Amino acid sequence: MAESLGEVSRWSVLHRAARWLAPNRALNWRYAGVDVSYRAGLDGGGTFLAQYFVRAVRRHYERLPVKSAFEWCSGPGFIGFSLLADGICEHLCLADINPGALDCVRRTVSRNRLQDRVSYYLSDNFKAIPDDEQFDLIELLQFEPLASLLPPLQR
Ligand SMILES: C[S@@+](CC[C@H](N)C(=O)[O-])C[C@H]1O[C@@H](n2cnc3c(N)ncnc32)[C@H](O)[C@@H]1O
Repeated sequence: MAESLGEVSRWSVLHRAARWLAPNRALNWRYAGVDVSYRAGLDGGGTFLAQYFVRAVRRHYERLPVKSAFEWCSGPGFIGFSLLADGICEHLCLADINPGALDCVRRTVSRNRLQDRVSYYLSDNFKAIPDDEQFDLIELLQFEPLASLLPPLQR
């Protein structure tokens, strides 16, 4: 536990520093062989917390993989791409209201050749998600209490 708290505070300090100093800096985050493109200002906690989402889903879902997972308010999709890379879902759908986040998603899909397994939408919540997208698992990391302490996310 103490180790995890240490990890959280280390992540928080580095994360805040990166967001304040260079929010537009293009970065890469790797999980299980998938390279996720992002900008420092778009990391809302996913780079640190994705591993815990993967663990929690593995612990609580009996029948894996699920056919389709959705990351709501995805940002660059750290958690969603981790679920896909870990074999938790066969298909991933991502949506965010920020075009900058979707640019990163587009880059990640293209560089990892995931066009057949990932769909993504510029969407205010579910407004632009087509009816034929169906999900077995929906995850959300909307960390506004922390995000509100930080500069606005880059759009
Ligand atoms: C704190 S960040 C979390 C990003 C990502 N889930 C992560 O783990 O790093 C919150 C995200 O929610 C998105 N967002 C905020 N309001 C939204 C809305 N109404 N519809 C879709 N996305 C929204 C923001 O653009 C931002 O990318």
